[in-house]
Amino acid sequence: MIQIHTYDSYEDLSKHAAQLVSDQIRMKPDSVLGLATGSSPVGLYKELIRMHQEEDLDFANVTSFNLDEYLGLNPEHAQSYRTFMNQNLFDHINIEIVRTHVPSGIAEDIAAMALSYEKAIHNAGGIDLQILGIGSDGHIAFNEPGSALDSRTRVVDLEEQTIRDNARFFESIDDVPRQAITMGVGTILEAREIILVANGEGKSAAVSDAVQGDVSTQCTASALQNHSKITFILDKAAAARLNI
Ligand code: GLP
Repeated sequence: MIQIHTYDSYEDLSKHAAQLVSDQIRMKPDSVLGLATGSSPVGLYKELIRMHQEEDLDFANVTSFNLDEYLGLNPEHAQSYRTFMNQNLFDHINIEIVRTHVPSGIAEDIAAMALSYEKAIHNAGGIDLQILGIGSDGHIAFNEPGSALDSRTRVVDLEEQTIRDNARFFESIDDVPRQAITMGVGTILEAREIILVANGEGKSAAVSDAVQGDVSTQCTASALQNHSKITFILDKAAAARLNI
């Protein structure tokens, strides 16, 4: 059963999500966090940075695993998800950079890299708290419609809609990579707790399909219905189509 928390503003939902993350870290200082990119969690990361600076939230023993990375982008590339995480979170908190993991988009043997990413999550004890956003087509991480609900970390082709949605981060749509490496739906479902943040009218259909639709590969976020500890943290616009 997906728990729904709805807030008036993006700022409020971000603060609430950050509170859940900080509760987790204070309860278990060596927590393993699953982290997401995209614009949705930026407010939550800003709030975590504030909590670190003003309230001594301590990331010294935290380990993190990001969901995904564009295939072919160097970690140093301005639009890589590694750069995104450094700029939006890691550079501003006291996390040990060696304990932050983002899949490599440039590994020579991507299949071997994917396997070792899965092993690293396992060896770290599994993910305690996974943060997710949602794509406008209902994808989580880069698990596009059609992805198996027990899929693992692997290379995927991006849908045209996802390429269009993410083009705003690049100079031109032609610069958006057509493939990515992503944790699978099955990988994500193994996290002990999951929070998904979504805001804006553009997410309302995907949120409604995920919460109220059938569990289906056509909306990979619907697989979250089968998780025992999952909370959607929404603003009113993203929650607009829910029957609550
Ligand atoms: C990308 C990421 C997802 C993210 C989605 C939504 O596809 N791989 O993890 O949830 O974008 O992004 P945004 O939050 O910018 O709408």
